[in-house]
Amino acid sequence: MARITAGLAVSHIPAVGAAWDLGKTQEPYWKPVFEGFEWSKRWMAANTPDVIVLVYNDHANAFSLELIPTFALGMAERFEPCDEGWGPRPVPAVHGHPQLAAHLAESLILDEFDLTLANELQVDHGLTVPLTLLFGGPAAWPCRVIPLAVSVVQYPPPTGLRCSKLGAAIRRAVEAYDEDLTVQVWGTGGMSHQLQGPRAGLINTPFDTAFLDRLSTDPEALARTPHIEYLREAGSEGIELVMWHVMRGALSAEAREVRRFYHVPASNTALGHIIFEEPDGGSEGRDTQEGSPR
Ligand code: DHB
Ligand code: FE
Repeated sequence: MARITAGLAVSHIPAVGAAWDLGKTQEPYWKPVFEGFEWSKRWMAANTPDVIVLVYNDHANAFSLELIPTFALGMAERFEPCDEGWGPRPVPAVHGHPQLAAHLAESLILDEFDLTLANELQVDHGLTVPLTLLFGGPAAWPCRVIPLAVSVVQYPPPTGLRCSKLGAAIRRAVEAYDEDLTVQVWGTGGMSHQLQGPRAGLINTPFDTAFLDRLSTDPEALARTPHIEYLREAGSEGIELVMWHVMRGALSAEAREVRRFYHVPASNTALGHIIFEEPDGGSEGRDTQEGSPR
């Protein structure tokens, strides 16, 4: 049977992708950002799953205001990077897992999560930047990726609690898939950031740190955080954090935090990253050197 081995969350800042693509990772501004992922890249290399269910939001690239699915599941064999205005990122196409995606669609919809099914989908920085941070620049991504797009750009986004319940339903679906696959669930976006309006540039480190702590120790209560609190405390784009609840909801009560990284400044965003392992997930051991929150 398939099983979820780990969950991971990471900000998906487009300028981080541009820094990688333009060879700027050793510049003083970007060096600490990329160094912060060295441990995680080693962990990923040792724990590469067969499939990642990658929860992200499209930023009006593949979807527009004409069509706003709250949850859209990528069903295709292949997903190309979108042109976000500067040409598509020079990264490999993403290979999906149509069989597992079809199983997820059936299982989730019959479990009363009414997904939109995307048979054709181009993926933006929300999906490709996390892959760059965790895998670097391989000629091909080392595993299959099923995109799960969540609407957070048009009010109302789904609640954190709905996202957490979707994660739990994904776990049930994966555990009912009759093939011996290892699956990770990733949540992306956040942490605090606001890109427009009078509060543009807002960063709230105490909020972000508390969010990371509670995601680890008290995820069920954290998932009940109302939208207005994200908006007030984490800025208008901080609402992307609801996607982290899909990841956390997909994990068991036994899952343990093994890695955390938090860094400001990174573009307009507080960069946050966390990894949870399931007890049977194939551990390299807990990271005690670099893992403490800053
Ligand atoms: C930035 C962050 C995002 O999450 C995003 O989707 C776009 C831009 C930023 O930091 O500029
Ligand atoms: Fe974003």
